[in-house]
Amino acid sequence: MAERYQISGSSSAAISASVETGIRAGDLAPGDALPAVRALAVELGVSPATVAKAYQELRQRGLVVTAGRHGTRVRPRPPVASRRSALMPPPLPGTRNLSAGEPDSRLLPPLGPHLAALATEFGTPGGYAAAAVLPELAAAARDRLAADGVPVDEITVTGGALDGIERLLAAHLRPGDAVAVEDPGWANLLDLLAALGLRAIGVPVDDEGPTAPGVRAALAAGARALIVTSRAQNPTGAAVSADRAAELRTLLAGRADLLLIEDDHAAELARVPLHPLAGATPAWAFVRSVSKPYGPDLRLAVLVGDEATVARVAGRARVGAGWVSTVLQRLVLALWCDPATADLVRRAAESYERRRDGLVDALAARGLAAHGRTGINVWVPVPDETVAVTALRDAGWSVAPGALNRIAAAPGVRITVSRLDEADLGPLADAVARAVRPAPAGFTT
Ligand SMILES: Cc1ncc(COP(=O)(O)O)c(C=O)c1O
Repeated sequence: MAERYQISGSSSAAISASVETGIRAGDLAPGDALPAVRALAVELGVSPATVAKAYQELRQRGLVVTAGRHGTRVRPRPPVASRRSALMPPPLPGTRNLSAGEPDSRLLPPLGPHLAALATEFGTPGGYAAAAVLPELAAAARDRLAADGVPVDEITVTGGALDGIERLLAAHLRPGDAVAVEDPGWANLLDLLAALGLRAIGVPVDDEGPTAPGVRAALAAGARALIVTSRAQNPTGAAVSADRAAELRTLLAGRADLLLIEDDHAAELARVPLHPLAGATPAWAFVRSVSKPYGPDLRLAVLVGDEATVARVAGRARVGAGWVSTVLQRLVLALWCDPATADLVRRAAESYERRRDGLVDALAARGLAAHGRTGINVWVPVPDETVAVTALRDAGWSVAPGALNRIAAAPGVRITVSRLDEADLGPLADAVARAVRPAPAGFTT
């Protein structure tokens, strides 16, 4: 508990460092309350302004969150590695883990043959003068994106979608700026915004993507960037439809004050067409990751956009990390060019779709409206997440509480279908129905 960890320091920097040390050591756990500003000020013999400044600094770095009367607490996943967070909590023994949000590793294309082929082709390893983006990869990405209606002027490569989004936000925004994101949305993105000191404005999302009134409200509230998941929205499975894209394009047209970011992480795994918003605003970027179809460990995404936006990302990377290894770029190119791999990815997409649709239908047959138009997750609205997660765990299924995904959205649980077998669908849907509508207690004999 927070009360047991003794925060020390006589300056705001020392106080915030002391809180950070507590988090790193695991003495301050996610959710722990920090003392009230005045109480800590008295205890440390400093002014309340000094403590408030320390808390503000921690808030801007995403280590703590202040929620009105609930005071200041350690964030669920603060951006400092703690001894405890190094160990991923294992799923409860004896339960099936449907909480991970990851593709099924058994359905990822094997890398071994491509790595072996690369080894035989490889000449002299590249040095610092190696081109940042392999021209062959850029050309292939250009073709693939153009086929999906994404205009490709400028292109660069980042270490995954989230790396690209972080670089875009860091280049365009300043701490305190507001960013419009889907609500419920991707938990890691919410964590990233907190770590960058940015404010998240939630935009309601339905099966066709972020709603137009939600986007309009976020713009009116001063959002400087808007992040839209094109397909397989996490956690709801939404995909931007043609109508919604047209509506949003009209709404966003000419907004020179807004950075538009599209995240197409599902890419080849998505079984619905892409309806991009790319180019609706002068400053825009479209990011396509290879994580979901080809494997999260590849850590590569292509990022396209207007000239200035891509130049900022590429230029900043050049004076920092440099570039994404051309070894990795060659591997992705080999995967893209291999018809057998394309076939495996298509079959994986079909398999996810069968299980996702199967679960949504099985839940509908039990009177539960769940969401999952695309991707590997199904979102089930529930009256109480803790009750639902606990009841499902007791029935042998570990699912993710929606709390990490939500800003103001109604509660729900996220069920990742990627490791489900078709025979699981009925029993799981029965368990969800019982968890959402538990039998009244006390009257059974
Ligand atoms: C919405 C969304 N975007 C992107 C990603 C993947 O990002 P990356 O390319 O950084 O692995 C995920 C993974 O879960 C996701 O849910």
